Amino acid sequence: MAGRLEGKVAVITGGARGQGAEEGRLFSTEGATVVLTDVLDEQGEQTAAQIDNATYRHLDVRSEPEWEALIKEVMDQHGRVDVLVNNAGIDLVKKLAATSLEEFERVVAINQTGTFLGMRTTANAMISAEKPCSIINISSVAGLEGVANHGAYSGTKFAVTGMTKAAAKEWGRYGIRVNSVHPGLIETPMTEDLRPFTDPQVRAKAERNIPMQRMGQAIDIANMVLFLATDESSYCTGQAFTVDGGVHP
Ligand SMILES: NC(=O)c1ccc[n+]([C@@H]2O[C@H](COP(=O)([O-])OP(=O)(O)OC[C@H]3O[C@@H](n4cnc5c(N)ncnc54)[C@H](O)[C@@H]3O)[C@@H](O)[C@H]2O)c1
Repeated sequence: MAGRLEGKVAVITGGARGQGAEEGRLFSTEGATVVLTDVLDEQGEQTAAQIDNATYRHLDVRSEPEWEALIKEVMDQHGRVDVLVNNAGIDLVKKLAATSLEEFERVVAINQTGTFLGMRTTANAMISAEKPCSIINISSVAGLEGVANHGAYSGTKFAVTGMTKAAAKEWGRYGIRVNSVHPGLIETPMTEDLRPFTDPQVRAKAERNIPMQRMGQAIDIANMVLFLATDESSYCTGQAFTVDGGVHP
């Protein structure tokens, strides 16, 4: 049976590890050609080497010239880019009043500006290709409600939610769907030092407060991202899809 992404080309940012790597693995099993990008070059090369039809390219999502070069290379090589997952991101665990301008601007540059540059550069290539395409922006439950001690992060994730909705209205006429995904607490390298993952008692208590009674795993997010990448979601655009075990109904 043909995979659900047979013949499609997908670009995933922050794909060296965590959720992005899991999405690369899942997309590949569904027949996609996968371009994983990240700033962790050694890990990215290793991850791509373990996935069929995957390659790794360095891409700092803050860099406009790097985005231009990447999308040009993908178009020259494959003639198309069907799916973009804007997944790269960093957290900052800090009270807003203690956050320096430099720290704030770094989070904005990666999470917000990086998503903008990715959407804009790729959508222009998608528009010229005249094929149905899907852009999936990884926001967070912190992009739906303010989260204390993550103020800068939360602000950027709200921005991702808003840009997604605006872009969906602008690009629907070109067959480009744009949706955001809002993970709850997911077990990845980003969260491994947080107490719910380092202290079994804190974890047990946290899990009791999640309706599904467990922490999220990267595959839980990858399955939603796959749905949004395929034609199974062909009439969904501008929407925010929460994947958090039921915490935010
Ligand atoms: N883990 C969670 O609990 C959780 C919850 C909600 C949302 N998210 C979001 O999910 C996405 C994936 O996170 P994850 O959990 O897999 O964490 P992760 O830290 O494992 O992965 C993030 C990746 O982004 C890359 N990255 C960082 N800065 C970059 C830059 N300037 N250019 C390119 N790549 C860069 C990192 O190198 C890393 O590989 C992020 O956007 C994150 O904000 C995570």
